[in-house]
Amino acid sequence: MTAKEAGPELSGATAASFSGDFANRKGAGGLPTIRVAPEGCDWAAFATSHIFAAVETTVSSRGMCDVVLTGGATAERLYSHWKTADQPPWGSMRFYFGDERCVPPDHGGSNYAMAMRCLLGAASPGKLMVARMEGENADIDGAARLYESKLPAYPDILLLGLGLDGHIASLFPHDPVLAEKRRRVVPVRFDGVKFQQRLSITPLVIAAARSIFLLATGAEKGRVLAQALQAPMDFSALPVRLAIRATWLLDREASIVLNEGSSG
Ligand code: 6PG
Repeated sequence: MTAKEAGPELSGATAASFSGDFANRKGAGGLPTIRVAPEGCDWAAFATSHIFAAVETTVSSRGMCDVVLTGGATAERLYSHWKTADQPPWGSMRFYFGDERCVPPDHGGSNYAMAMRCLLGAASPGKLMVARMEGENADIDGAARLYESKLPAYPDILLLGLGLDGHIASLFPHDPVLAEKRRRVVPVRFDGVKFQQRLSITPLVIAAARSIFLLATGAEKGRVLAQALQAPMDFSALPVRLAIRATWLLDREASIVLNEGSSG
């Protein structure tokens, strides 16, 4: 089942019926495909290889690959490795963002600035195709609507980091945006985090993405993912449940805790 068939309203097998070892399982019946970095293997190298393979498959079959990037330190690790490893086929890729803080594009908190520093800056300027969210725009709603007009209807690859509160992109627990049914990009404000004002994709983009990779490392995120599998349809409490049918790229620490959490 591709993620495009996935969606907040779709019912699927509940995780309650999903048991057993979570190491490297193929998703079935609306559950994640779990890939775990082998022992002794750097998670960033492992994650890069999976994402790069997906890019190559898309480019060979569709000629182009639209990738939606995420922010955060985990993504930064991935981008920094990716830049040094297999150079992306820059001319066949278009880069977008799943969310952005409302800061200038050269600000230390900007996801665009981080992506340029860690990955996109390696491309020769003439080859790079990147669409930036204008977080600095005073008309933040206008910036959201403008970005929505640029975002492909079905992004080929969507990358998502995971917050310890279960947020993905800038979709935070219990935020009304989780019930958004019309717009694909909206301004969000969440007081519980640094950079409270942001732009974010909505669940509609997650449901439409052709493939989704969730980037999660460490025991604490393994615990969040174990929780996510306990009640997979309650997106409001844990927005990461919107990515229940994604490919989860985990390190061993996250996988061990996820496994322990699943065995009850
Ligand atoms: C952001 C990100 C956010 C991030 C998670 C995980 O703009 O903050 O898009 O969704 O991916 O918070 O961040 P870490 O990898 O730093 O834990």
